[in-house]
Amino acid sequence: MRYRTRLYIDLNILAQNVDKLRSLCPNNKILFMVKGDAYGHGMTQVVRFANTKLKVKEFGCATLGEARHLREELSDLQFEIYVFSDTNLEFQSCTDYYLNRRIIPVISNFEDLDFFLGESDFAHFPLCLKFNTGMNRLGIEFKDIDKVINRLKANKRDSIHHLFTHFGQSSDDIAEGGAVWNQYHEFQEIKRKLVDADITVKRSSASNSGAIEQGFGLDETHIRPGLMLYGPTALNPEVRTKSMWTGKVISRLETYVINSFAVEKGEPVGYGGVPCPNKGTMALIAIGYGDGLSGRMRFPTLTHKGKEGRIFGRVNMDMTQVYFENIEHFDLNPQEHFVIWGHEQEDILRFSDQTGATPYEVFCHLTPRVPRIYSLE
Ligand SMILES: Cc1ncc(COP(=O)(O)O)c(C=O)c1O
Repeated sequence: MRYRTRLYIDLNILAQNVDKLRSLCPNNKILFMVKGDAYGHGMTQVVRFANTKLKVKEFGCATLGEARHLREELSDLQFEIYVFSDTNLEFQSCTDYYLNRRIIPVISNFEDLDFFLGESDFAHFPLCLKFNTGMNRLGIEFKDIDKVINRLKANKRDSIHHLFTHFGQSSDDIAEGGAVWNQYHEFQEIKRKLVDADITVKRSSASNSGAIEQGFGLDETHIRPGLMLYGPTALNPEVRTKSMWTGKVISRLETYVINSFAVEKGEPVGYGGVPCPNKGTMALIAIGYGDGLSGRMRFPTLTHKGKEGRIFGRVNMDMTQVYFENIEHFDLNPQEHFVIWGHEQEDILRFSDQTGATPYEVFCHLTPRVPRIYSLE
């Protein structure tokens, strides 16, 4: 158990983010992506809150294991769960989970489609299809749309519960004629072909955070935000001014100062004895790579009591040095609170830009050793 190194999660901010998103996209329902343990924030607590308090009814996972976990932990709640990639549909034990727990697999290839259509147990189960429109990762190809239609007709399926595609470059500027724009046009073409073949598309979605923030791909029943609901923009630094997103970060990563001391120019510090380039103050904080700070990250700056320091020397498993270069007599008390990132987007974006890890990675790197503490202040 740890008391002062923790990820503090303010669910009120999640509520505000959902409100903001709903006013940006009043015509779209939210399919909230909670894979990766809700981007490191604790899937069970996030889904419970979003479902009961914010009336979000649909959630997206990557794996069947994540979806099972949600069903088991939240058996008192009613919501839909989609499994997007690691479906394992063809294993009998997994098939049973889908059927008995109403977990909806997203089908992205012909093997799974044939299996699904061939299983009589799935005859009345929601059919969800994902098309590859140019991201080239997962999904049925546009050129195979007639094959899909033939398969559906042969199996007397006249509707698709939810039709998906996923954008590969929505963190960049979405320009007319560009990659995302072309993907979306292909998606429209797929929908048109299905409708022309008298197959009803009940739900559809394409837009993840980067697209939503640019107001793109909203002519669908749903949107599929992940990162933005946890706070940060998904846009790359060069195009962030294009973002309409004003959400706040739902988490604050806190630790405390274990020790602090003055350093001289050339003084070796920590493992490997990395020499200080100048005199200053060194703070040792109680968080390390065992918590998810990586020694491979480029070193970020951290601001404490209005002064800028930077992570210095080797990150340890349990501790990290923060170097306040040329700042002497810095009034740092052992035991005092130290915030790595707070609720302003700028904090985590700076951390992520400086370390070279995306905000997705920064969140997901946090290990279970960091307690997640939830608050509704
Ligand atoms: C299929 C799918 N939809 C939506 C999202 C959400 O993306 P983001 O977190 O960028 O909003 C993801 C995440 O990678 C995804 O894989």
